[in-house]
Amino acid sequence: MTEPLLSVEDLYIRFKTYAGTVHAVNGMSFHIHPGEIFGLVGESGCGKSVTGLAVLGMVPYPGEVIAGRILFHGENLLQKNRREMEQIRGGRIAMIFQDPSASLNPVFTVGSQISRIIRHHRRVDRHEARALALAGFEAVGLPDPARIFRAYPHELSGGMQQRVMIAMALASGAELLIADEPTTALDVTIQAQILALLNDLRAAQGVSILLITHDLGVVAETCDRVGVAYAGSIVETGPTAQVLYQMKHPYTRGLLEALPRPSHRGKALQSIPGSVPSGLDLPSGCPFWPRCPEVMDICREQKPLPTRLDEVGHRVACHLYSREGQR
Ligand SMILES: Nc1ncnc2c1ncn2[C@@H]1O[C@H](COP(=O)(O)OP(=O)(O)OP(=O)(O)O)[C@@H](O)[C@H]1O
Ligand SMILES: [Mg+2]
Repeated sequence: MTEPLLSVEDLYIRFKTYAGTVHAVNGMSFHIHPGEIFGLVGESGCGKSVTGLAVLGMVPYPGEVIAGRILFHGENLLQKNRREMEQIRGGRIAMIFQDPSASLNPVFTVGSQISRIIRHHRRVDRHEARALALAGFEAVGLPDPARIFRAYPHELSGGMQQRVMIAMALASGAELLIADEPTTALDVTIQAQILALLNDLRAAQGVSILLITHDLGVVAETCDRVGVAYAGSIVETGPTAQVLYQMKHPYTRGLLEALPRPSHRGKALQSIPGSVPSGLDLPSGCPFWPRCPEVMDICREQKPLPTRLDEVGHRVACHLYSREGQR
């Protein structure tokens, strides 16, 4: 087994607010191997984006990482200083967001922005940066790279802007791309094209991708492995097929049952009763117990640790499978 490119280990992030302390991330752990697409999936507010931002040292104020390790090539990013993180951010690790237009400056051409970023991360002159940018546009399937280079962001469609963001990441030498809901704002057909592009890039360039999404359909189509997050930690993880088709956690089952499916046509959508706990007021024990159809006494008292289910890395954090839960 190869060493993971990225390992997030027992990460805790909190926000101290006037309303109280928000426990946004609570023991999040997962890893991504080189050339792998890992999906981090879960309902709104479960800590997906904050986790992605933490990898880049960009947790917004008043958030702070209070425990854990984030290992990239075995080095703990949480111990890097500001200058070291600036080199990594946008260079070896890049992030793209739901709304690409917010990441592009409207007053500069696309070409000048991508050139500046490339030159910040690679020792190249203006001409070489331009050549890298054009090659990058080509690699992400943008037609007429020279025209794109001269264009202003508003002259491009949302799908094209997202391709520019991906080209920028790759041209800067990214080994890991963190894509936070990269297709949520796009039309369904464009969405499929961007997901196919991410898949191609992984195959062609070996780039690893942390794909953050609330959409299990996106996970099914794109991800090699997936982690299902609930209230800031992973409740079930493993190869996509295991997690989606042999799911063990009652929460994963609930998420899948909530999906619209042809066989459900005409029937009311199943959904999970109750709501996600607020990070202000987490239940003791397993964070899912107040909504769990299979809750046991131990669930209210003790947070379950991940139990390994098989040899391919399917793990579930649930007392239905834990040693403590069997007593
Ligand atoms: N600036 C902030 N101030 C206070 N709390 C915050 C802040 N940003 C995030 N949080 C808290 O952290 C939790 C996790 O937020 P995060 O944005 O990571 O969720 P998410 O899983 O990405 O959700 P979504 O699917 O809606 O994007 C939220 O529930 C919120 O309470
Ligand atoms: Mg988010």
